[in-house]
Amino acid sequence: MRAAVYPGSFDPLTNGHLDIIRRGTRLFDRVLVAVLENEGKAPLFSVGERMELIATCTRDMPAVEVHSFNGLLVDFMKRVGANVVVRGIRAVSDYEYELQMALMNRELNAGVETIFMLPAVEYTYVSSRLVKEVFRLGGDVARLVPPQVLESLRARLQVV
Ligand code: PNS
Repeated sequence: MRAAVYPGSFDPLTNGHLDIIRRGTRLFDRVLVAVLENEGKAPLFSVGERMELIATCTRDMPAVEVHSFNGLLVDFMKRVGANVVVRGIRAVSDYEYELQMALMNRELNAGVETIFMLPAVEYTYVSSRLVKEVFRLGGDVARLVPPQVLESLRARLQVV
């Protein structure tokens, strides 16, 4: 069984994330979406809420499992028996940060490989941070997030 871990904050899940997850399921038998438990980032949605949204939006992909983790990613990977990390890269600007993380994870566990995947072109500028900002300011993000996420944004955020 080929298993890959797709880690991130997912606050909230965007269509860009969903696109990477779908592409991942074409390469791996199991794609474990792993939500980082990082309260330091003052997230909009709790870890449980983020996991539920991911689970709902990936219902049509039986290969997808939703997990959460704290501490080191490599330790989580050891626990679940996976050695491939999937990360999406949108623009060159993502590369430096991703390179650092991939090499640090390799330093921590030489058996861990990181695979970078490209999202569909129409999502190359989409990020959770921008989605939240634009939504808060009354902009239309309906094309950028799954309908369930849009609903949760509406329920959570007062649009100015
Ligand atoms: O969606 P994000 O916020 O860019 O995801 C970052 C994430 C969760 C992949 C990264 O912060 C992470 O793996 N954190 C766990 C802590 C860790 O293992 N750090 C050392 C490796 S960089």
